[in-house]
Formats: sequence, C-alpha cells, structure tokens
Amino acid sequence: MLSTLRKTRDMIRHLNLARDNMIAAWPKSYYRRELIVENILGRRMFIVNSPAGVQQVMVARADRYRKSPSNEQALRPLLGNGLFVSEGTLWQRQRRIVTPSTHISRLPGYAAEIATVCDTMTADWKRRPAGFEVDVTEEFTLLTAEIISRIMFGFPLGEKVHELFSAFAEYQASHGRVHTAELLGLPSWLPRLSGFRGRRAVRRFDRVLLEIMAAGHARQRTDFEDFLDLLLNFRDDQGQPMSPTLARDEMASIFLAGHETTAITLSWASWLLERHPAVEERLVAEARRVLGSRSPTIEDYPQLVYTRAVIEETLRLYPPVHVFSRQAVADDEIAGTKIPRGSFITISSWVLHRHTLFWDNPNEFDPERFVPPRADKVERFAYIPFGAGPRICLGKNLGLMEAVLLLAMSTRDWKLRLRENHPVEPLGRMTLRPRHGLPMRITPRGA
Ligand code: HEM
Repeated sequence: MLSTLRKTRDMIRHLNLARDNMIAAWPKSYYRRELIVENILGRRMFIVNSPAGVQQVMVARADRYRKSPSNEQALRPLLGNGLFVSEGTLWQRQRRIVTPSTHISRLPGYAAEIATVCDTMTADWKRRPAGFEVDVTEEFTLLTAEIISRIMFGFPLGEKVHELFSAFAEYQASHGRVHTAELLGLPSWLPRLSGFRGRRAVRRFDRVLLEIMAAGHARQRTDFEDFLDLLLNFRDDQGQPMSPTLARDEMASIFLAGHETTAITLSWASWLLERHPAVEERLVAEARRVLGSRSPTIEDYPQLVYTRAVIEETLRLYPPVHVFSRQAVADDEIAGTKIPRGSFITISSWVLHRHTLFWDNPNEFDPERFVPPRADKVERFAYIPFGAGPRICLGKNLGLMEAVLLLAMSTRDWKLRLRENHPVEPLGRMTLRPRHGLPMRITPRGA
C-alpha cells in the first residue's frame, strides 16, 4: 500500500516535471531502449522508440492509429477541423484538396518569394546600428510568417504580422503546455486555464484571417492557384463550396504549421553555428561559392549541400515537433508486445534522434552525417523531423528549402552572436523552443 502511494506520488511529480518541460522528463534509460511500457495511474502507456516501431505506427499500420485526443484538445480551439487535427474522410478530402500547393513544381516560385522577403529583412538590419541585438526566434518568426502568408495566401502581411503573432503567443500562453495526463487519456485534474484568454486570442487571430480571405475572394483567381485559391475554388460533387469555417480552419492550420517550425529551426541553427566555428566557416564558404553576393534561386538549392546538412542536423538535435502522440483504434502488436485498442502511444523524436543504438555520438553536432555518402547510413525511421506516413508534414519540401535558403543568406552576410552569459535551454511544450529566447547581437560579416 505504502509503496503504491509512493509510486503514485513519484509519478505525479514526474507528470508535473513533464508538464513544465517534456524533454527534461525523459529518463536516461529511454535513450537505449526500443519499446517502453509504463503503467501510470492504472493506465499503460507505450513509448515507441525504434525505427521499426515508428515505421509500423506511422506508416505500415497507420490505419490502426489516430492522433491522440491531447493533440486535439490543445489545438482544436484555434485550428477547428483543420488538417493538423482532423481525422478520417474529412482529413483525406482536405489533404487531397490542398496538396498541390506544396508540390515540388511550386518550389521555384516559392524560392523567389523567400529570397525577396529575406532581402527586406536584411535591408532593415542594414539600417540598424552595427551590433544591434534581436531575439532571433522572434525575428525569424516574423520573417517566416510573412513568407508563408505570401506563398500560401498571396497576401503580404506587413504590419498585420504583429497582430497574428501576438494573438498566437497569447494562445500558446494559455494552451501551449501539453497536459501529460491527457497524453495518457486520463482526465486532466488541472483546470484548463485557457478559457477567456484563449477565446480572445482566437478572435484576434480571426480578424486577420477574414481579411485575407476577403482579399482571396476579391481576386477570384483560377489560373494560378495558391493554397487559399484551392480552398475558395473548391466545389464538391454537388457543386457546393467549402464552408467558410472549414476554409478558415485550414488557413489557420497552414499558417501556424507553416511558419513557427521553420523559424525555430533557423534559431537553433544560428545558435549551433556560433558554437561550432568550423561548421560556420564551411557554411559561409559554401554560400559564397554558390550564391556569390546575389539572392538565391531554386537552381542554387541542390548546390547548398552542406547548408542543408546543417539544417538536417539541427532538426535532428532540436526537432521543433518533438513528440507525436497517437491512440490505437484497433489492436496491434509491436515487437511482440500487445497494444490493445484504445492504448496511448508516444513517439519522442527528441529521444529517437539521440538514441544510442541508432546514432554514433548522438549528442554531438555533426552535420557531416547528412552529407552523402555518410547520409545513406541514416536509418530512415530513426529520423522523423517531419513525421512519416500519411500524416507526414504537408510542407516538408517547402520547409526544408526555406530553412536552407534563409540560413545560407543570413549566415553569408551576418554574424549572429548570443548575448553573453545568456542561458540556453530547450523547452519542450507544443513545440521545442529556447526557454529564455535567443537574444543575439547581429553584425555584418564583411568580406
Ligand atoms: C522545418 C519546418 C517544419 C517542420 C520541422 C515540420 C514538422 C511537421 C511534423 C513533424 C508534422 C507531423 C505531425 C504529426 O504527425 O503529428 C507536420 C505536419 C504538418 N505540417 Fe509541417 N513542418 C515544417 C514546415 C511546414 C511548412 C512550411 C508547412 C506549410 C506548408 C507545414 C504544414 C504542415 C501541415 C499542414 C501538417 C499537418 C499534415 C496532416 O496532418 O495532414 N509544415 N509538420
């Protein structure tokens, strides 16, 4: 009896730790185990921690799993029935409708847009006194928000980006913590503090989305269809358009899924480069050789091999989406262990990407591991920064290209240096961000 109480007390302590920072709560032993079964307050939770297990849950038997209710609870107030949270036939239909917007044939136009927006940001940097300081996470978030809005909605956000950004920050402050209890399917005894603040944030968010939608209707384009056009021009078998609410939900989803992740990647990459001067030097040399002093185009992208490796290695060590939670909708078996219907599955890309069985020197920043031919040794399902299977990131190609081009441009021209003695700690909540931000001093790199 006493030991059960003690176990429960330890578990609650652990859940609270995880609620503050999920990645700090993963026990050391997980980094060498392949399947972990925990009994938590009478529930079994499965932590799938091997490439074969990941392949099974996310790809081969993806039809036996759905995104878990915790994902839905955290995001539905903001994203409604958008792609990120919907399931079943609705998700299938919506994914089919918007998939053309991220097809690789679109990348050349997107590369041009990315370069233009980045040039605007750096023109602004040039006007500021040398050695000025910005929080790069905020700066890159504003940059990638502008990019995603132009690419997906054909709408330059300009100053409105601040409105969306602060509404999202407010929403995250109220909904951003993953309730570990919910990951387990337990009722959360912690009251949802979100209520009023969350709803206010959504209303602020919607004001801008509705304006963007109205601009989309006004231009009535059918020749070149961006993401917004695809939503607005859609007609079902009966000739009915998509409901404005669902179109709004998809816009909110693409906007959020499509900018913060890229911004965080760039932020971690900038910080890692400062800490690894030899890597930084090599990246600068590549960017100068490939780009000279001009803006990049799509033709440059395949040449930026090392820059891409730096981004891929950043995504390994600091995956912005650091945890995947699923619920079994049918019985399954993983590595001989029965997974009953209704079970909760967690896959932590943070742990998997640093797993001692699947990576050499897992905690070392070593972009070379993503440069061919060494890259061929990376186990496909030990590395899932964009997820895998049917729910794989819709913007995988775009996000990767965007991060590569932006990192090449910013590092070629600028030195980013962290404020002295500033603490850097990865914080795993809805996404993996630096807990105290990344205030960095920015100076021109010179010749
Ligand atoms: C470095 C950048 C990015 C990273 C690391 C990233 C990561 C991810 C991950 C891991 C998922 C799967 C989540 C799950 O299975 O539970 C996902 C889904 C998604 N991503 Fe990305 N993403 C990035 C950029 C983008 C961009 C640029 C877009 C916009 C086009 C985008 C749109 C989406 C959408 C719509 C989904 C939901 C897909 C679905 O469920 O059908 N992402 N992303």
